[in-house]
This record gives sequence, structure tokens and C-alpha cells, in this order.
Amino acid sequence: MEKNRVCRLLGIEYPVIQGGMFRLAEAGLAAAVSEAGALGTLSPHAGMTRNGDPARNLRFQIQRIRRRTDKPFAVNILLDLPESGRLVDVLLREEAAIVITAAGDPGTYTELFHCAGMQVLHVIGSVSQARLAESCGVDIVVAEGCEAAGRIAREEIPLLSLLPLVADAVKIPVIAAGGIADGRGMAAAFALGASGVQLGTRFVASEECMAHSAYKKAIMDSGDNATLITRRGSIPVRSLKSRFLEDLAEMERSGAGKERIEGFIGRGRTRKGQLLGDMENGDAYAGSSAGLIREIIPAAAVIQKMMNEYTQAVHRMRFQPVRHPI
Ligand SMILES: Cc1cc2nc3c(=O)[nH]c(=O)nc-3n(C[C@H](O)[C@H](O)[C@H](O)COP(=O)(O)O)c2cc1C
Repeated sequence: MEKNRVCRLLGIEYPVIQGGMFRLAEAGLAAAVSEAGALGTLSPHAGMTRNGDPARNLRFQIQRIRRRTDKPFAVNILLDLPESGRLVDVLLREEAAIVITAAGDPGTYTELFHCAGMQVLHVIGSVSQARLAESCGVDIVVAEGCEAAGRIAREEIPLLSLLPLVADAVKIPVIAAGGIADGRGMAAAFALGASGVQLGTRFVASEECMAHSAYKKAIMDSGDNATLITRRGSIPVRSLKSRFLEDLAEMERSGAGKERIEGFIGRGRTRKGQLLGDMENGDAYAGSSAGLIREIIPAAAVIQKMMNEYTQAVHRMRFQPVRHPI
């Protein structure tokens, strides 16, 4: 595959991004992805000790990734976190080159990032959010459909419609996220106007990811009906089905209020599911892409397989005879 706009802007070989993953995207995984020619992303809380300091952890993770690779990597900043300002401070001090912002106003720090010479990607879930990001000077938007793992946009728009709508609405490059786990999905995303793809769940089930083995196995064993969106009062989240999730969904169906729902969820559910492997009581984020994942392999193999499948899919489309409907 020739280097496209996204590859040139980010200085990478393949237009594939390992998305931010709150508890999981630490330097080991991100370095393996970047070293393989794609873009690895660090999440400031990943790999942190319990009740640790995310700013200190981020500094440590940046140092770790720099010891492992000299290739580009990104840092994910969730703009609605109270500590986001301190995390931005670390990015500037450490002279990070690429940031992926999400869950907030793209106008908050984009100018500051640009003054520091950084490339800014911003995750959006609707056309109006994409337009806003572009007007704030964001370099690339990540259009994330409701197929994606974890927190998704309130609009819950599927990628098949969101992607061409966003590609028509903005001039900056668009990266597709949500439900993509192989080269076929990547080819489909490119057909719909994407210049790159961002994956989460596929990289959870990679050898380097620090996710608990029970979580990785649950992804590997899952099928087409393995995930569920729960709304949790205001923010929709897609996770693997479990006793916890079914109970939560039942509470929501019965009209339970925000306070009761938040009380039921409590604290530490994602840690329980994703790091401790309690697949019944924990919250294990997964995209609908989980059903496509059948093996746990090194991150570099994920990327290489994906690029081969992409080439095959494009080749297949090129030589498909065009038949007119009778
Ligand atoms: C365990 C997990 C945690 C995630 N946490 C974040 C996060 O902190 N910030 C973010 O922008 N996206 C987060 N995501 C979303 C991913 O970056 C990515 O956009 C999404 O997983 C794409 O959908 P897919 O899982 O079907 O590939 C998370 C995804 C997973 C699987």
C-alpha cells in the first residue's frame, strides 16, 4: 500500500491506529504497534498502580515507549477528565508529537498543541462534531461508529452511515473506528471515504496487551451477538455481555434512575473485568468487531495480516464483474 495523506501527516508506514484504551494502552502494546509501522497510542492511566498519579504514569510510559522504539506514537487525552490539564502539561514538557483527544471540546487545547508543533486527532461521533473539530483546526478526525468498544457517542450512529456523511462534510482526513478487526473492514472503510482505521478490540486480543487472559479469551470465543450497549444514565457504553451487563440492562429497561444505576455500577468494574478477568461481575469493553477475532497473536502480526487482507479485498473488488439487476 502506498503511503497516503494520513501516513505522511503522522510519519507512519500503514494508516492503522491502535486506539487509546483507558486501562490497557501502555507502552508495551503501543511500542509493538508503532515498531510494526502503524501508530501505537498511550493512555495516561494504563499500567498505573492502583490510586497512582496519571500524570507521573504518563511521563513514565512516554519514557518507556521511547526506550523501545524511535517511531511515532500518540497519546490519548480524554478532555472531560478533571486531570486533563495536568496530562496536557506532561505532553508539552515531554515534547510528544501526536495527540488523540476525545470526549470533550476540541477547541480547548488544539491551538496550544499546534504551537508545540503537534498533530491533533479528535474522536467524533456525528457530523456536527466533525465540523466543529475541523473549525477548531484539528488535523484529522476519527469517526467512531456505535459498533466501537467502550464509551460511544450519544448519537449512536453506525459507521456505515457516519463515515460517508463525515467524509462529505469535512476536508481534513477521516479515520474510521468501530467494528473493524481485519483488512476487509479496512477496505470497506476506505470505500466509504476513510484514509485510515483505528482499532481497539483487535489489539486487546493481542499478545502484548496487558488485558487479563480471561478477557482476551472471551473476545476470542465470542460471536456476532456478544456485545451490548448500556446507557448508564447519559453515556452509552459497549461491552461484552455478562451477568453484570444483563442486570444493568434490565435495570435500564425497568426505568431505574441515574442514581440507582450509578450505585449499582459502583467503582472498579472495568478493572475487575479487564485486568482481573472477572467476566461475570466486571465490565469488559468490546466492539462488535469481537466476533471477528479468533486468535491471540502479536500486534505486528495483526497489522501484517490486516494489510494482506486489505490488499486481497481491494483486488477482489477490482475484478468483481459488474452485473446489472434484471
Ligand atoms: C478496553 C477499551 C478501552 C477504551 N478506552 C478508550 C479511551 O480511554 N479513550 C478513547 O478515546 N477510546 C477508547 N476506546 C475506544 C478505542 O480507542 C477505539 O476507538 C474503539 O475500540 C474502536 O472500536 P473497536 O473496538 O470495534 O475496534 C477503548 C476501547 C477499548 C476496547
